[in-house]
Amino acid sequence: MRAGKPAGKFLQTLAGTRFPTPPIWLMRQAGRYLPEYRAVRSTTKSFLDFCYTPDKAIEVTLQPIRRFGFDAAIIFSDILVVPDALGQKVWFEEGEGPKLEALTDAAQFGRLSRARIADRLAPVYEAIRGTRAALPGETALLGFAGAPFTLACYMIEGSGSKDFAKVKQWAYAHPESFGLLIDLLVEAVVDHLAYQVEAGVDAVQLFDSWAGVLPEEQLFRWSLDPMVRIAKGLRERHPAIPVIAFPRAVGPAALMYRRPDTFAALSIDTGIGAHWAARELQPHICLQGNLDPIMLVAGGEAMDREATRILDKLGHGPFVFNLGHGVVPQTPPDHVARLVEVVRRWKPGTP
Ligand code: CP3
Repeated sequence: MRAGKPAGKFLQTLAGTRFPTPPIWLMRQAGRYLPEYRAVRSTTKSFLDFCYTPDKAIEVTLQPIRRFGFDAAIIFSDILVVPDALGQKVWFEEGEGPKLEALTDAAQFGRLSRARIADRLAPVYEAIRGTRAALPGETALLGFAGAPFTLACYMIEGSGSKDFAKVKQWAYAHPESFGLLIDLLVEAVVDHLAYQVEAGVDAVQLFDSWAGVLPEEQLFRWSLDPMVRIAKGLRERHPAIPVIAFPRAVGPAALMYRRPDTFAALSIDTGIGAHWAARELQPHICLQGNLDPIMLVAGGEAMDREATRILDKLGHGPFVFNLGHGVVPQTPPDHVARLVEVVRRWKPGTP
């Protein structure tokens, strides 16, 4: 906790305080749906160079806070800065998303080293210091990282994928060598998150965006266990830091992630019913979620009704309003402003 500054609604909610309406922020709240983001983004060709330019990263982190007054900012960066800092070649192709020089053999792990993280990612930590200094005291600053399985997906597939056949085949046929990569990523992510905390973030979120491609029997070993090891490793270095887990699309296996001693909150995706979550998850752990990002594109009364339904189900317990996944580029900014209003004007009735 920051000495002398008010903790704000978001951090107090993670710590167990209840407010009449929940705090709100949105995954991917900075990005192409905002004209002011596109204006700054257009000044740098390479996406990674953009992430590594502190002034620009600070500016686009602050843009959605200025426009919508969210309760938390998330530092502008990407999950793929970790493979980049480890020494894997990473680049972004216009309109195609991320590309990596794919790992094809465990012998290549030797070329990856976490010794370079502090240096290579120094601009990210500088951006965190600058953002924290510029943010209102009551607005929390979130750090983040990709969870090891999701990072391994990109590192082995070499891009996004429809079926994740390469990474899954590797994990199933050669669990020992896949486990070595996961172990390396656990250590790298703990380092990266610890440096983010040292630079001033108030909480961190672990994105396991592709956890849902694994069968339930494989989730413990490749998704949950590495995330638990990261949370514990980070808290050995920074005991008070809240860790939010986002294991996307795992369905009822979300029950496994219901670990209040390890995670301060569990972020649920759109596939999880708010009614089920209120009964099975929320009595044990603070939840975050889970409006469909396409509902935010649709807007209007449909969005108002759905946001209110989620609030009626989850707003009575420990809860942070968010989407079930990130804001998409075609989202009208007016719909985001309207959503913030709906959440802040919600009146709790009987659950
Ligand atoms: O506002 C925020 O949420 C902070 C910034 C942020 C970005 N990426 C910026 C970004 C965060 C938290 C991420 C996380 C991220 N990156 C995830 C996990 C969350 C999720 O969406 O599941 C993943 C899987 C990635 C990998 C990644 N980065 C992809 C697949 C893409 C291309 C897809 C796209 O939208 O183009 C990126 C690029 C990227 N990261 C952009 C932004 C704003 C768009 C690129 C641009 O502006 O040119």
